[in-house]
Amino acid sequence: MRPGHVARCPLVAASLTPVKGLILSGGAGTRLRPITHTSAKQLVPIANKPILFYGIEAMVEAGVTQIGIIISPETGSDIQEAVGDGSAFGASITWVVQDQPLGLAHCVKIAHNFLGDDEFVMYLGDNMLEQNLVGFISEFTSRRQSPELSSPTGGPTAQILLAEVDDPRSFGVAEITEDGSVVRLVEKPDNPPSNLALVGAYLFDKTIHEAVAAIAPSDRGELEITDAIQWLIDSGHEVAHDVLVGWWLDTGKKDPLLECNRLVLDTIDPQLDGDVDDASDVEGRVRIEAGAKIVNSTVRGPAVIGANTVVTDSYIGPYSSVAADCQVTNAELDHSVILSNSSIKNVARLTDSLIGSHVDVDRSTHGPAGLRLMLGDHSRVELEG
Ligand code: DAU
Repeated sequence: MRPGHVARCPLVAASLTPVKGLILSGGAGTRLRPITHTSAKQLVPIANKPILFYGIEAMVEAGVTQIGIIISPETGSDIQEAVGDGSAFGASITWVVQDQPLGLAHCVKIAHNFLGDDEFVMYLGDNMLEQNLVGFISEFTSRRQSPELSSPTGGPTAQILLAEVDDPRSFGVAEITEDGSVVRLVEKPDNPPSNLALVGAYLFDKTIHEAVAAIAPSDRGELEITDAIQWLIDSGHEVAHDVLVGWWLDTGKKDPLLECNRLVLDTIDPQLDGDVDDASDVEGRVRIEAGAKIVNSTVRGPAVIGANTVVTDSYIGPYSSVAADCQVTNAELDHSVILSNSSIKNVARLTDSLIGSHVDVDRSTHGPAGLRLMLGDHSRVELEG
């Protein structure tokens, strides 16, 4: 086995030491504006479930039930309301308010009281991974516990997850030597040293607190977790890495978000908790949530129709997620995510779209002809060619 690289070997998955979880759900969410002007990007739904919930569920599945969540003063209360005390997930949640988005390593700093000296898995609340966290965590603990697997330095103090990407310039990027050692990490470099991007899941032991205390803010004014991990490497600590299995999406932008929605919808189980009248057709993987009504319409999956949403005289095509309390009337849509309480009426075809909550889209019945728009800041409209 290459040093620094963690093999996937079930035989060495020793009993897990309890690991805490830290989910980063503060930050500004500028890239998903205007959706995130008023709401947290971590609450944007994928297949009608907030992105953040997938992260919490992945932690609980891996046995991590003591979870700290970093929130911002602006969107924190919405996140608290959505997650509750964590009991619905089988977790206990500690809230840590970050007054300003001063960086990923700053999150570790302000969560120190909660984390104590325990090992922890840190997860970016706007990321989604296809793979679960079970193997990633058990490999770290095994490697730290099993003498035959530990390096001469006593095993890794951190473990990162990497994925090959086409354009690494908007990610943290790792440089790995021939023998598999992680030797350098750089945040959003103009000239990336490799195509290996840091995925939003990290494992640390208590040494990270020393590292975070030792680094200074970067040029963009943030305490970078990449700098903290670089400090570990420069101080002689081993940093292990694992290469991602399956897809991963940093959902902070519209197109990756729609792509992620597509991938998750491909895995849902059909479920009918709402009403479908005799004049309607529901085909393929479709989940119709409680109280939803499908009237004289076709829903072709994969698709999710949220609770109490009413679809009338419409066609909802593949890869659509319509959230709760929406109205879709005399409209056609596919490959789109519609947030709650919105209304889409008399629209010939809506595609590749992300529509926020409480939005009305309708066709005008009065003249003069023309588009009548009321769009929030940073909105984007693409008219038919
Ligand atoms: O998505 C993977 C990338 O995530 C990594 O490759 C980068 O190394 C890492 O820095 C990070 O880059 P982003 O630019 O995507 O980070 P973003 O600002 O979107 O923040 C990620 C999550 O952390 C998001 O849920 C917001 C939260 N956050 C962020 C900052 C800067 C906080 O809670 N507090 C913060 O101060």
